[in-house]
Amino acid sequence: MKKFFIRTFGCQMNEYDSERMAGILLKGKDYIQVDSEDKADFIIVNTCSVRQHAENRELSYIGRYVKNKKVIVAGCMAQNLKEKLLNLFPDLYAVVGTSNFSSIAEILDGQNEKIFIKEKKDIYSVEFERKKKVDGYITIMQGCNNFCSYCIVPYVRGREVSRPYEEIVKEIENMVKQGYREVTLLGQNVNSYFDEKAKINFPELLKIVHKIDGLLRIKFMTSHPKDLTDELIDTIKKGEKFVKHFHLPLQSGSDKILQLMNRKYSIDEYLQKIEKIRKDIPAVNISTDILVGFPGEEEKDFLDTVDILNKIRFDDAFSFKYSVRKGTQAEKYGDTVDEKEKLRRLNYVIELQRKISYDINKSYIGFETESLVYGISYKRKNELKTGTINNKKVFVRGEKDLTGKLVKVKIKQLRGDSFAGILL
Ligand code: SAH
Ligand code: SF4
Ligand code: F3S
Repeated sequence: MKKFFIRTFGCQMNEYDSERMAGILLKGKDYIQVDSEDKADFIIVNTCSVRQHAENRELSYIGRYVKNKKVIVAGCMAQNLKEKLLNLFPDLYAVVGTSNFSSIAEILDGQNEKIFIKEKKDIYSVEFERKKKVDGYITIMQGCNNFCSYCIVPYVRGREVSRPYEEIVKEIENMVKQGYREVTLLGQNVNSYFDEKAKINFPELLKIVHKIDGLLRIKFMTSHPKDLTDELIDTIKKGEKFVKHFHLPLQSGSDKILQLMNRKYSIDEYLQKIEKIRKDIPAVNISTDILVGFPGEEEKDFLDTVDILNKIRFDDAFSFKYSVRKGTQAEKYGDTVDEKEKLRRLNYVIELQRKISYDINKSYIGFETESLVYGISYKRKNELKTGTINNKKVFVRGEKDLTGKLVKVKIKQLRGDSFAGILL
């Protein structure tokens, strides 16, 4: 038996790909998955390139194990650096691109080549074993066509390709058979999902998935604001299985910066969409991404971002410092905001958002709602982790056999960015 360990960096789509790789390897009889690097013969590192900081961490991780283990670098940094990785680490076992995950078993079985980066699309329909869980991911489209000027994703993941809807439905039906009750549909911009053959757009796909028996909850991410339609809002509002949460990355509060970022929406348009969502869907949860220190971002642009955060009051915001990515449009704009100033802006935004999130969450105390039980809490073994219909985490005292069931909970107190509550 050969033992493998997978370390995943990056976004949910990487987690899905890691799960697929594990599932493919476990289908054969030769491999077992282990839970630490020490126990492994093979270490698969599934990587991210979205910021330099991510790549640096991954490179140092690889450096730690490359001498003593068979290390395979997969994913976005593999696609980004290609043979440069072999120059840095001649002992690497293999480098696997973002379209070649489905070949992982053959790659581990050993070949003459070390680099597996083929242009062909990955075969998503490949069947794989999943972990026995309640909530899982499914990638419904690969790649991105948007070319936001700062972003490397379109270069490392290629152009948008939507999976045929029947394949998605079949995969979710299989998940439900294995005990899954919640699914998150993933794509860099799920709003532009389109099954060319069947002529099915994202809201239509959602309605089809909603009909799957035994599935209780449906989430999705990410929504590009420019493609968020009234049809989507209406669909989410009407389907009881749809989690009332939109992750709608804003990036900046300045129209000038949004234009330089090639985001294709204005602040006014963004505000109108938020207003529509909030008007139509009560207690809706809206989160965002903020990028500070983009080239050309002056103090007044930054203050526009601060203003809009105060005005919109997101439930949550993930904030990042701009990091120059080779080959992107924004690389040509230079890196005009110095590191210290970027850090100041980042910390300011994080602190502001922490206060806003706290205030919003506080208003949920006393709230009674239906919540899905994910299982026993990691930290407290007498508690269950549950998720509400608007995507808030609530921990309650309860028994293991409620896992996968919808329960009624009352929110009692704040606990960090989640809640403690009671079963009703
Ligand atoms: N497809 C999603 C985002 C994927 S990347 C969308 O369009 O919203 C996740 C987040 O990383 C982005 O929203 C952005 O805020 C951040 N990001 C992307 N490229 C970056 C860069 N070069 N430097 C810093 N942050 C970046
Ligand atoms: Fe990157 Fe923009 Fe595509 Fe998101 S939409 S992945 S930020 S290029
Ligand atoms: Fe995801 Fe990072 Fe790749 S955000 S798509 S793992 S570059």
